[in-house]
Amino acid sequence: MHAVDIITKKRDGSPLTSEEIEFFIRGYTHGSIPDYQAAAWCMAVYFQGMTEPETVALTLAMAHSGEVLDLHDIAPRIADKHSSGGVGDKTTLVIAPLVAACGVPVAKMSGRALGFSGGTLDKLESIPGFRADLSVDEFRKALADCGVVVSGQTANLAPADGKLYALRDVTGTVASVPLIASSIMSKKIAGGADAIVLDVKVGHGAFMETEAQAANLARTMTSIGRGVGRHVAAVISDMSQPLGQAVGNAVEVREAIETLRGGGPADFLEHCLVIAGCMIMLAGKSQSEQRAAQLLREKLASGAALAKFRDWIAAQGGDTAVIDNPDLLPKAPLIETVPSPQTGFVAAINARAFGYAVVSLGGGREKKGAPIDHRVGIVLGPKVGAWVEKGQPLFTIHAGDDSRLNPCDIARGLPLERTARGRASSGSRHHPGFRTNLNTLPPHTPHVPRMAWRPFSVTICSRPSTERCSRQRMQ
Ligand code: URA
Repeated sequence: MHAVDIITKKRDGSPLTSEEIEFFIRGYTHGSIPDYQAAAWCMAVYFQGMTEPETVALTLAMAHSGEVLDLHDIAPRIADKHSSGGVGDKTTLVIAPLVAACGVPVAKMSGRALGFSGGTLDKLESIPGFRADLSVDEFRKALADCGVVVSGQTANLAPADGKLYALRDVTGTVASVPLIASSIMSKKIAGGADAIVLDVKVGHGAFMETEAQAANLARTMTSIGRGVGRHVAAVISDMSQPLGQAVGNAVEVREAIETLRGGGPADFLEHCLVIAGCMIMLAGKSQSEQRAAQLLREKLASGAALAKFRDWIAAQGGDTAVIDNPDLLPKAPLIETVPSPQTGFVAAINARAFGYAVVSLGGGREKKGAPIDHRVGIVLGPKVGAWVEKGQPLFTIHAGDDSRLNPCDIARGLPLERTARGRASSGSRHHPGFRTNLNTLPPHTPHVPRMAWRPFSVTICSRPSTERCSRQRMQ
């Protein structure tokens, strides 16, 4: 077999056999197939797609590119969750210790920043000393010792995904259902969890921009998980505006700590409670959503979730002093507040523009394997539906230096929205990343959100016993 034949076959739209897919993934993992051929192949998959059997073969080839963990000697049922990628999505930082505090062990293999979307490992590495590259023995030990572990792919765990993920990030080949589904599910299979909740994001700040695409991705992943005997549920959640207020690495860790302390943004907390609730129900710890929510709130209020966070960070070498004093997290030297150009309701916040702005600031990667600046980010003020006065802060930019601040014009934007004909529209000014709706109501009008916050639209479960999660929540 030759890599070039497999690339041209896919380029021309023919389905690949599982032998061809295994050959390609094995060759790429071991270095006999170079990055440039893998990049061409990813682009062919991006345009031609894959059949379900091809996607399953790709997932299994990537999962088996390293060791597939069996963690049943540590606990009978281990939970995991994975987001398909979004902006400001620091959910794992809160729910991993929260679910573990409820007595459900969490073992998670996470990813790094990808395109405009942040990565859990990069966020965690803002904590001085935190190690995200655990060996299999260290992964098992951290799980056994404190009931929660989060690590990246290594030479032993799904190494093919580690390589392909970094390559896709810089070759415009992220937003492909078979590539995302196989990337996520290979990590989940290799990571050894039995109860897996998939948080599939939809909107401008997600790789899936429509609900139909998100549902397709959710179905593909739940069916792969079911096929290998795992309990899987999927939640489709809104990513048209960033989740919570903070977008970046250290700033998101700070927001997660605030949330574990009982504060934090309401939209983010609600999201964490739903995902965590699905995890503990799928793991068999709770029979009803109400009981799950009550248990989770108790663990937050009692400080048990924060204590578990502390144990977890310590177990992976992180400096727990940042938990008591988040000012010890890396801090950007330049902080600039961007005021609203106009009075009105916030009608939309373009999550993708903010994600790219943080990449421009140095908080994500433009080249494979490049270092990132944990200090930088953007912290939003009012969210969609809020009323803002002219001059009121809209968001704060945390930058490393002046030269990095400039690309952030992306988010600071132009003074006037242009119509399709290129003329300034009379009624609406906006920052491209952050639009205020200027079909204004007078300032004294009571707060009436124009766009309802839609946290979750559809939940899909893989087995009948979890069908109580299966509901339409579209408003
Ligand atoms: N998360 C992953 O792990 N992989 C993807 O491809 C996208 C999001």
